This record gives sequence, structure tokens and C-alpha cells, in this order.
Amino acid sequence: MRIEIKTGNQQIIKRGKPVLIAVNQKIVTAHEGELVSTVLHCEGIRVFQRKHKNGKPSGIYCGMGICYECLVKINGVPNVRACQTPVAEGMIISTDIEEQG
Ligand code: FES
Repeated sequence: MRIEIKTGNQQIIKRGKPVLIAVNQKIVTAHEGELVSTVLHCEGIRVFQRKHKNGKPSGIYCGMGICYECLVKINGVPNVRACQTPVAEGMIISTDIEEQG
């Protein structure tokens, strides 16, 4: 997503090309350039996983790839940082995995 500032304080949001992805077995339209965490947040998903040790929920925390609280399963690969992964056509995302280790 890009925001272009026009004269007269009008802002126009330009989005990337629409792509279809699956989020917890639901087909969702996202846009190229968006992060997985953004799409999950827009879908109302705040808890990405529950920690194995204590069952506490985790999701977006730092938003910049440091905390590892936003781990999800993407295309069968567990523990992928949602806040660092751009969406791609046909991506399959699952938030119902347990934290590894
Ligand atoms: S929110 Fe901190 S690593 Fe993704």
C-alpha cells in the first residue's frame, strides 16, 4: 500500500494487485505488497498462536521482526514471522499452530 499526497490535502491510497490467499481455510483477497500480519489483522485475527509452555496468546507485538510473537504457518512451514512476510498469490496461512521449542 502506498499513500500519495496530492495537492489540497487529498490522499489517495494505491494498493497492489489483488491476490487470493487462504487464511485458516478461508479464501481472502489481499494485495501485493501487504504483509501477512496486516492481512490477518484486517481479518480480525489478533491471536496468531498460543504458546506451548503456558497457553498465553501471542500475535503482533513489535511489528518489525524482533520479538517472534507473530509466528504462523505458511504453506506448511511453521514459525514464519507474519510481520516480515509479504503475501503471495495462493499462499496458505494457518494461525492455529503451537509454538515450537
Ligand atoms: S511482531 Fe515481532 S517479530 Fe513479528
